[in-house]
Amino acid sequence: MTTSSTKRLLQALNKQELDRPPFWLMRQAGRYLPEYKQTRANAGSFLDLCYNPSLAEEVTLQPLRRYDLDAAILFADILLIPDALGQPLAYKEGEGPVLDPISSAKELAGLSVEKIHDRLNPVYETVNRLSSSLPDHCTLIGFAGAPWTVATYMVEGRGSKDYVAIKKWIYSDPDGFQKLMDILIFSTTEYLLKQVEAGAEVLQIFDTWAGVLPDVEFKKWVIEPTRKIIDAIRKIHPDLPIIGFPKGVGGNLIDFVKSTGVTAVSLDTATPLPWAAREIQPHVVVQGNLDPISLVIGGQAMVDRIHQILEELSGGAHIFNLGHGIIPQTPPENVALLAETLHNWKK
Ligand code: CP3
Repeated sequence: MTTSSTKRLLQALNKQELDRPPFWLMRQAGRYLPEYKQTRANAGSFLDLCYNPSLAEEVTLQPLRRYDLDAAILFADILLIPDALGQPLAYKEGEGPVLDPISSAKELAGLSVEKIHDRLNPVYETVNRLSSSLPDHCTLIGFAGAPWTVATYMVEGRGSKDYVAIKKWIYSDPDGFQKLMDILIFSTTEYLLKQVEAGAEVLQIFDTWAGVLPDVEFKKWVIEPTRKIIDAIRKIHPDLPIIGFPKGVGGNLIDFVKSTGVTAVSLDTATPLPWAAREIQPHVVVQGNLDPISLVIGGQAMVDRIHQILEELSGGAHIFNLGHGIIPQTPPENVALLAETLHNWKK
């Protein structure tokens, strides 16, 4: 990364002093925007949208036309990896993703790492298009799910409340489960490297369900795979900024930032900010952490909370974001108020 970048997000990731933090929002493209719903309806299925470079480019750009954001995040989904590996996947209305679950090492024979790029090529084409269509001040973020979170969907077959199926597997046959993780570590590394080749300037690794594991398993199935992916990427791109998002892990966040090699960490909504300023910010750049529900409510309560976050994290490098993704009930005008509040704030 060059220190002379004029892009605010890259400057923050480089720990440069700024008058205000850069900002972007997790799930900034999506169903809260009427124009997304329109494009989504024209695309057919959600997967058709993800694999259509011109429509995926369009929905990535939609939030930038409304708000002066400092970054765009590639429009895709963390479950494109199981899809590309050959595990049948569908997104069902009102239910979310549904996959044919895999629950033992024997069933891994059905997955194939050789041909993932054949399926994923349209995603790289989307990145390529965005790298020339984005406004100059905007940074392009590529992403993937972390192996643990992707595995939860592959093994449970859908979103889960208790993670019984995957925990049964990790406790009864850790060596067999490691084989699934190795497949995911390899394919996720390849996927992210291709995104960088196509023009992604920053990567974010989403580990939404990192918080359901006890300490020992957290190290083995969250920290280790993330560290391996980051090591492999840094061999080729030593200075590439990488943001981790292990959601809901409490005090284990300290170990995560010290052990994985992330440049920055996204703080979930529950993370206490004075603690993060003291324990996390001295090591890595922090991102976050407005409650997405505060963005649904809006008004002065949201503005006050935004100011509080800005003050509490103003002693070090900070990227403003939510503590989790925007939800479909969010009024678009509240996002405009958030953008205005951030642009008017000065350190
Ligand atoms: O941030 C962005 O705007 C980029 C696109 C993006 C999507 N999913 C699009 C999407 C990103 C970064 C993701 C990440 C993702 N996907 C995560 C990790 C982050 C998080 O929110 O926890 C997870 C766990 C998934 C898996 C997934 N995809 C679920 C559980 C669902 C169903 C729930 C839901 O929100 O509908 C999806 C579908 C999905 N991914 C949609 C979008 C816009 C909605 C699909 C639709 O339009 O019908």
